Amino acid sequence: MSPIDMEFLKQNSKIQVYLERADKHLEGIGYTEHGLRHASITAMLSEKILRCLDHPPDDVRLAGVAGFLHDIGNVCGRMNHCQSGAIIAHSLLSEIGMCSEEIVGIMEAIGNHEEDFGQPTSKISAALILADKSDVHRSRVRTRRFISFDIHDRVNYAAEKSDLQISNKKKTISLMIKINTDISQVMEYFEIFLSRMIICRKAAKVLSCEFELIINGNKLL
Ligand SMILES: [Fe+2]
Ligand SMILES: [Fe+2]
Repeated sequence: MSPIDMEFLKQNSKIQVYLERADKHLEGIGYTEHGLRHASITAMLSEKILRCLDHPPDDVRLAGVAGFLHDIGNVCGRMNHCQSGAIIAHSLLSEIGMCSEEIVGIMEAIGNHEEDFGQPTSKISAALILADKSDVHRSRVRTRRFISFDIHDRVNYAAEKSDLQISNKKKTISLMIKINTDISQVMEYFEIFLSRMIICRKAAKVLSCEFELIINGNKLL
C-alpha cells in the first residue's frame, strides 16, 4: 500500500462525512467555514512550509495529513476540539492502516494546534499551527449579514488576499494579508488575532525561522 497522504484522505468518504458534520456544527454556532475547504488549504500550506524548508518528504506528507484532519474534533463540540480531534484521527488512521509511529506525530500536532493551550514541540505541529492561522480570507465567511456586528466575520471578510511565503535562505515565514480597510481596520485584526500571532512566532522558532506579519505591504511583526 502506498503511504497515506492528504490526497488519499480526500478520497475517503468516512472522513468527508466527519469533516462535513464538524463544519455543520460550527455553522450552527456561528463560526466561519471550517470544512473541506479549510482542511484542504491547511493541509496544502502545512506541506508547503516543510517542503520549502527542505524537510524530509515523509514529514511533508504527515504535515499534510495533520492539516487535513486538524479540525475534525469539532464534530464533538468546539471546546477541546484539539483533543477530541487527535483521538478521532487516531481511530480513523489506524483503521486505514497507518503505522503507530506516524499516528502519534499527527495526534500531537492536532492536539496542540490552538493558541489557548497548544504548544508546538515538533516540526509537524509547528507547520500545522502556521498553516491553520494563515487561512484568513473572505471566502470563509458564510454570510455577509453579520459582518457589521461580528468582528470575526468582518475581519475575515475584509481579508481579500492572504499568502504564506517561506524563505529557507532568510529563515523567514511571512504571512501577507491584504485587508480592505473600508470593511475592517487593521487594528481589529490584532484585536482578535494577537494570541494567534504569538503562537505563530513560537511555531516559527521550532522551525528555526522568524515569523513575519505583513498587512497591506506594512511589516507589523
Ligand atoms: Fe481548530
Ligand atoms: Fe483550523
